[in-house]
Amino acid sequence: MGLERRAAFSVFMVGEGNVADAPRPSGEVLAPIASLLVAAAARGEALGLAPTVTEREYRAYLADLLAEAGRGDAGLAVAVRAEGSVIGTAQWRRSPYPTRRVHAELDRLAVVENARGAGVARTLIEAVAADAQAQGVEVLSLEVRGNNHGAIAVYENLGFRRTGLLPNAVAVERTRHDVLTMCRELDRPAGLDLLGSFPAGAGASLPRGVARGLYWQRTERLLLCRPSPTDADAYFAINADPATNVHNPAGPMIDPTAAGPVLELWARHWREEGYGYWTVRDPASGEVLGFGGVRPPLRGEEFINLYYRFRPSAWGNGYATEIGRAAMALAAKASPGRIVVALIRPKNEPSINVARRLGMQLEGEVERDLGKFLRFSLVP
Ligand SMILES: CC(C)(COP(=O)(O)OP(=O)(O)OC[C@H]1O[C@@H](n2cnc3c(N)ncnc32)[C@H](O)[C@@H]1OP(=O)(O)O)[C@@H](O)C(=O)NCCC(=O)NCCS
Repeated sequence: MGLERRAAFSVFMVGEGNVADAPRPSGEVLAPIASLLVAAAARGEALGLAPTVTEREYRAYLADLLAEAGRGDAGLAVAVRAEGSVIGTAQWRRSPYPTRRVHAELDRLAVVENARGAGVARTLIEAVAADAQAQGVEVLSLEVRGNNHGAIAVYENLGFRRTGLLPNAVAVERTRHDVLTMCRELDRPAGLDLLGSFPAGAGASLPRGVARGLYWQRTERLLLCRPSPTDADAYFAINADPATNVHNPAGPMIDPTAAGPVLELWARHWREEGYGYWTVRDPASGEVLGFGGVRPPLRGEEFINLYYRFRPSAWGNGYATEIGRAAMALAAKASPGRIVVALIRPKNEPSINVARRLGMQLEGEVERDLGKFLRFSLVP
């Protein structure tokens, strides 16, 4: 699999699952791969191998790697010239942590000197990425020696970004070099809830006395998160539910592709104005319970808008009031003195109650495109 032909070479994955008609190097393939890497290590190339490693030792290592590949936990790519000589190799290996089965490391990328600059590394890396992705890997990471700027440029060219630095962690006799860590995200299956670093779900914790981070804040029972386009499925599920739209003159949402742009706009408010609506989650599970908070005035508006919408299973807990309080505090801090307005349909009793509980005053009725609304307001 992962076969790609260039004018002068082919790349394929060694072991199980090869494309049946892939051109093979003549004879056994592990020996030339071992000899390529052992020669590179002997020249002192930055491959994490001792310069004294022998071909025999490396072949034994490759045999183990192929056993892992047979279980779907690794892959070995090889680049071969038309006449059969091995000119490059790379590998991937799944994280040993059972909770990190979607993470693998790309390693041992090497191209023989006289074949460099012809796209061999590019083809090897793409083959490794495709093979790893086919085995469920979603994040491919790697480590590269800090002085190896050519290789760093290759990886950056191929979609890897820098994620960190281990200072002077490579030892070559009495010299030390940094280790740069990099990663590339592969395609993920649809429907995942990407919680990133939100303090939600198993293993979550908070620093003592701290209830907020850069992209989130805690209230007594809720986790308020900066929205992201990856929340689109949850946004659509809540907004397409007729139960959440009884008072919405526009009716339930029907186009799922409209959710992403809404969340993108909300995320833009945060980037540009420093505040906006939240995606509201259950801190125990990370599940999205609803959306709401305050957003900056749109063009032609003089007020900050207050909004809340929760999935029906989350109703009746006072959550809207809880985020409303946090939202008022956010508005007061982000734009002191500016009026916060909630426009509510006259028959929407639960929402009117929330506005009153937040101390908002009824100013009167306003006519909007979609009909009559009660205008509640407060300068927090
Ligand atoms: C790093 C190495 C694998 C690159 O192999 P290669 O086959 O020459 O790389 P490619 O030709 O596929 O280049 C891939 C991309 O990186 C770019 N690139 C290659 N070398 C580069 C360099 N030194 N500086 C900037 N960009 C470079 C290429 O232009 C290409 O991008 P493009 O397709 O957009 O033009 C090879 O130099 C090598 O084996 N080095 C020694 C071992 C090593 O350091 N391995 C990395 C260990 S972490």
